[in-house]
Amino acid sequence: MPDTLTIIDNRTDLRYELPIHQGTIRTMDLRKIQAFPGDFGLMGYDPAFMNTASCQSAVTFIDGDKGILRYRGYGIEQLAEKCSFLEVAYLLLFGELPTASELQAWVSTITHHTMLHETTKKFLEGFRYDAHPMGMFISTVAALSTVYPDARDVHDPAVRQLQICRLIGKVPTIAAYTYRHSLGYPYVYPDNELTYPANFLNMLWKMVEPKYQANPTLARALDILLILHADHEQNCSTNVMRSVGSSQADPFVSVAAAAAALSGPLHGGANEEVLRMLDEIGSKERVWAYIQQVKAGHGKLMGFGHRVYKNYDPRARVIKWTADQVFQVTGRNPKLEIAIELERIALDDEYFVKRKLYPNVDFYSGIIYQAMGFQPEMFTVLFAIPRTVGWLAQWQEMIQDPEQKIARPRQVFVGKESRQFVPIEQRGSQAARAASPNV
Ligand code: CMC
Repeated sequence: MPDTLTIIDNRTDLRYELPIHQGTIRTMDLRKIQAFPGDFGLMGYDPAFMNTASCQSAVTFIDGDKGILRYRGYGIEQLAEKCSFLEVAYLLLFGELPTASELQAWVSTITHHTMLHETTKKFLEGFRYDAHPMGMFISTVAALSTVYPDARDVHDPAVRQLQICRLIGKVPTIAAYTYRHSLGYPYVYPDNELTYPANFLNMLWKMVEPKYQANPTLARALDILLILHADHEQNCSTNVMRSVGSSQADPFVSVAAAAAALSGPLHGGANEEVLRMLDEIGSKERVWAYIQQVKAGHGKLMGFGHRVYKNYDPRARVIKWTADQVFQVTGRNPKLEIAIELERIALDDEYFVKRKLYPNVDFYSGIIYQAMGFQPEMFTVLFAIPRTVGWLAQWQEMIQDPEQKIARPRQVFVGKESRQFVPIEQRGSQAARAASPNV
């Protein structure tokens, strides 16, 4: 059976044979399909990339129908159970799990990149006391571009590697500083004796004690959450990272752009929205009525549904398990009752069943974060820390891919054809044009 696709163009009766490779055709091959000599040729039209692969990638694999997620071939459940976040970061970036000595060297390198330049600290001080932490995070990551102008040399592998380490080391510090800023607390410098998650908790919660001791269960739970959020193949923010990076912009501004995409409520901002929704519902008894409202077209069930998963999000399963560990330390978050009831009713309801809408990673993560003491405004920042690793792994892959060029989609133009310029005194007003559109 040949791996080809035969297309007959009914406009011309011509027949074309296109090669199929890994379940795809190259849309550039469609351009030979012309209605007449000199015709531009056929294009694919795919708003929101519903069925278009924009790259070849070896980083993350998802089978959305089966609910499978693997980083570099390893199942997410195993990685979450057995690895530290920095071990997984190494895997995502370098393609293999590190040996003990490789891991030690890697952890030491990242640990020695956690400090922020003092001017960056002052930059953060310029934000209003009530600035949203995600806005501060995005802007401060972008501002690092001014501190490290060497980062612009994106074609030098050693330069790239240095920026990758800087970013992974510094994003928890920036995140913690945005939190301390919003409370008016003094910033806490990183402590190099602590692990990545314990140091983050130290920078968040340390007050006057000489040495902050993170609760080991909470530090481990946070590490697991970081692992679960580290990468997710070509999602909205990763696509932005690749797209901005394709213009050879430096990785700091590219990560800032990706973080901006993450902040939206349909993407990483959903975890914050889930908490708002649970607050709005208020009690278990009101869940059914809320679901009827959603089914009637008033809003969405936040933390439900996914472009790729048409089955239970495997990350949500691990998160539920992690929640149990956290609640043993913090006590049960009362919102959990509402969330469980919401999931129970939705998974049994024809509307959600028919559309294959299951809880996604954001459904339970906020409940854990809140139990750990985070305000909802911090939730998306907590997502951005680990996803920085995924963005960087995908950026590096994009830079090294000889097939990649500046990302530049085509369009189907549906606007006005060429028209005569109208002098200003002869132009009708918007209201007049709306009243008689053909004038
Ligand atoms: N609640 C109610 N209905 C929904 C929901 C939802 N959460 N999600 C999708 N639908 C409906 C949607 O209205 C549509 O119905 P119909 O066919 O009658 O028009 C159908 O399901 C298909 O949805 P879609 O909007 O075409 O799906 P999409 O792939 O474009 O959107 C999504 C995916 C994640 C943006 C969407 O499911 C959503 O908005 N969910 C809520 C926000 C959320 O939880 N986002 C976090 C995603 S996971 C974390 C991450 O990676 O960012």
